[in-house]
Amino acid sequence: MDEEILKLLRENPSSFFSGERISQRLKVSRTTVWKRVKRLRTLGYDIEASTRSGYRLIQSPDLLIPSEVTPILKTKWMGKTIHYFPAIDSTNSKAYELALEGAREGEIVIAESQKKGKGRLGRHWFSPPFLNLYLSVILRPKIPPQQASLITLMAAVATADAIQKSSGLLPLIKWPNDVLLRDRKVAGLLNEIHSEMDRIHFVILGIGVNLNMDGKLFSREIREVATSLKKEMGQPISRKAFLGTLLQELEMWFAIFLEEGPDTVIKAWRDRAQVKGRKVTVTSFGKTLSGIAVDIDSDGALILQTEDGKRIRIVAGDVEYRR
Ligand code: BTN
Repeated sequence: MDEEILKLLRENPSSFFSGERISQRLKVSRTTVWKRVKRLRTLGYDIEASTRSGYRLIQSPDLLIPSEVTPILKTKWMGKTIHYFPAIDSTNSKAYELALEGAREGEIVIAESQKKGKGRLGRHWFSPPFLNLYLSVILRPKIPPQQASLITLMAAVATADAIQKSSGLLPLIKWPNDVLLRDRKVAGLLNEIHSEMDRIHFVILGIGVNLNMDGKLFSREIREVATSLKKEMGQPISRKAFLGTLLQELEMWFAIFLEEGPDTVIKAWRDRAQVKGRKVTVTSFGKTLSGIAVDIDSDGALILQTEDGKRIRIVAGDVEYRR
């Protein structure tokens, strides 16, 4: 019912909507309308109430609830169904569950906070409420499972593009899918796949972007290596507008990947990553290797030239840049 009240108030943003008319339209008592308005105020909606004229919506909070997000979405199919949670363990786990139950491609899960936000390699993703973006998108690409890592590269490019469009700053990508601003991590991706040997059932694209988090909120361990858009821009950013831009970029890059094949995605990733020739230390499956990053190959693996001149393909792991 909250969403219906908001819809009516949004129809005529500058004028009052009488309590009587709202109660008639929603077929509830005027007391119920008043109680709901009071509840909406606790969520951050600034609603003016006048005994003679009714209610008027002055300002909406930057919540990611469907009634705030849907009106601004410009996508064709992505995000048309939104599963929204004020708090959840992990949007990825929820999306995985929904996909197993048959959720369609393009359905998304968003949460204002995560209690067990999952990072890569079993790490925890810090997910405090109402500040950042925690998003999982269900995709069902008809591609062989070996190409799944290209979906990760595609999503990293889309996330970097969305950050650039929303902030005017220039993000770079660190292999495989960290998005950095001034060498500090602003976004991370955790993609989970459910497949057979030769067929993907679904991919969960999990994206976390630090948007309005202040530097002091980062734990001491990550303070030096993490950042947020607010910190880099010096001003807060609208989370729902950012989500709209990100979904548009993801929809566009996914179409490019399916229609034009991996080459365009790999090229865009290379342009963003500037990995060629960098001195790196890679940790992969418990081993640490140092060398020079040569390129990424057509499956998205990192090619490393080790100090003894050997070329090695790294399919998973962590990269640290050395000076
Ligand atoms: C990384 O370690 O860099 C990946 C972080 C991915 C975090 C996002 S937040 C939304 C989605 N749900 C999760 O539990 N994790 C991903």
